[in-house]
Amino acid sequence: MTLIIAVDGPAASGKGTIAARLAQTYGLPHLDTGLLYRAVGMKVLEAGGSLDDEASATQAARGLDPADLSDDARLTTGEAGEAASRVAGFVGVRAALLELQQAFAAQAGGAVLDGRDIGTVIAPEAQAKLFVTAAPEVRATRRWKQLTARGIEISFADMLADIQRRDDRDAGRGSAPMVQAEDAVLLDTTDMGIEAAFDAARRIVEAARAKHDL
Ligand code: C5P
Repeated sequence: MTLIIAVDGPAASGKGTIAARLAQTYGLPHLDTGLLYRAVGMKVLEAGGSLDDEASATQAARGLDPADLSDDARLTTGEAGEAASRVAGFVGVRAALLELQQAFAAQAGGAVLDGRDIGTVIAPEAQAKLFVTAAPEVRATRRWKQLTARGIEISFADMLADIQRRDDRDAGRGSAPMVQAEDAVLLDTTDMGIEAAFDAARRIVEAARAKHDL
């Protein structure tokens, strides 16, 4: 049995937590593909390069190794998220990261991947596809609470502007824009806590498994 679960959606929609819990529930490996773009963005910045330079970003993506992904604290900052969404618009960067993600999806037994283009580009063959979203104000509130709990100071207005800028950039780019796949199920978590959101996600996956006899 192979079960590929694609979880796409904007920042702070709950997709990462949902994907991690689905992976645990179904005993599947999980790849947070946002981390790849974050690592590329940080590599460019740490080498003193410009986030507008496609050639250096592509080189950083081609040379990515597991050690670049190991420092979670460095990759989960707002700076890394912003850098990620800048380099993610480059065709060369996306091409360099494609094979790795597709190989992860093609593992025997299946996998869970979360990102922006999993159901559309990376694994269009996925049996279960979810597009997880929530109102921008709700997503900004969630992210703001996470950051302030970690002692990071940011105003709510700045947080909301940050979320909206990233949504626009991710949905507006020419290469693999963030868009709901035609056969993905929309899960709007605006009025849901994480337990309710996870239950809804599991029901979507169960329906997909029944449909595919898995
Ligand atoms: O999901 P996360 O916030 O970690 O993603 C950071 C950025 O990486 C996104 O804003 C997006 O620009 C980019 N990304 C992408 N495609 C993916 C995953 C992330 O373009 N599959």
